[in-house]
Amino acid sequence: MKICTEKSEVARGLSPYRLKKNTIGFVPTMGALHDGHLALVKRSKSENDITVVSIFVNPTQFNSQLDLKNYPKTLEADIRMLTAAGVDFLFAPTVDEMYSSREKNPSPETDKEQFDFGELETVMEGKFRAGHFKGVAQIVKRLFEVVLPSRAYFGEKDFQQLAVIRKLVQDYRLPVEITGCPTEREPTGLAMSSRNLRLTEQERREAAVISKALFELKNSGFRFSLAEAKKKAVEMIESSGKLKVEYLEIADAASLQPLNDWDGSSSARVFTAVKVGEVRLIDNVELAP
Ligand code: PAJ
Repeated sequence: MKICTEKSEVARGLSPYRLKKNTIGFVPTMGALHDGHLALVKRSKSENDITVVSIFVNPTQFNSQLDLKNYPKTLEADIRMLTAAGVDFLFAPTVDEMYSSREKNPSPETDKEQFDFGELETVMEGKFRAGHFKGVAQIVKRLFEVVLPSRAYFGEKDFQQLAVIRKLVQDYRLPVEITGCPTEREPTGLAMSSRNLRLTEQERREAAVISKALFELKNSGFRFSLAEAKKKAVEMIESSGKLKVEYLEIADAASLQPLNDWDGSSSARVFTAVKVGEVRLIDNVELAP
């Protein structure tokens, strides 16, 4: 695996493959890799000639300096995992490489493009993490400009992020195909996440109730109204007194707008964000059909 820290190295490294018209699959990440990330890598490898992974903890998408500071960093182990997985290129730039010195305190506002994702940004993660998706779009667009991938792979674990990326690609007519991949889970059902590394053993066991509540809601047969079903799920998650639900929403899978009632014929998902101590976890599950 070739490791690049500069944009120009990536361009130079990939140019022979571009000349040969090889396809390039791209998996952007923030590192602290787990089997969820590796599932994206496997998918990319099966569909492309060359696979590029990026590891970059992007400052402009964090709402809290503390969350940014505490974000897990495991670069050595990540490199071993990616090498074993047969990744061709790793792009691991510094903040200065991705944001110019003009952008001393980089933020989406320092970009000349002002991203606007409309109603996608006003609900759930958009509502509770102001500016987060503008930061994600800013870095993903810059990474796409460096790698120029044929296809890029994103997890449904961050379903709203996937919707934002699809809109970014559509709005800017970026020549890349976006593929969403299913959420990988621990045997307990807990959605794999880099942030799980920040949980104690006990918190990790307790956090399993998050996906249990979402799957129970899915399998409830909708004997209850949506409001009742959501209330039951919140009560189940909070029953131990250790977890705090920030939001739990049933939303249309395309517009991501909350549904007040649902006849089961359209595609809907249940989404939640839960605080486990200081750590904030998100998960979502498809409800239909
Ligand atoms: P990160 O949280 O590292 O996730 C990188 C990719 O892995 C995302 O597409 C995410 O949805 C996917 N992923 C994470 N956990 C997963 C799981 N359990 N199953 C399947 N896929 C999973 O998302 C980001 O980084 C950043 O916002 C990024 C897109 C890299 C921009 O900075």
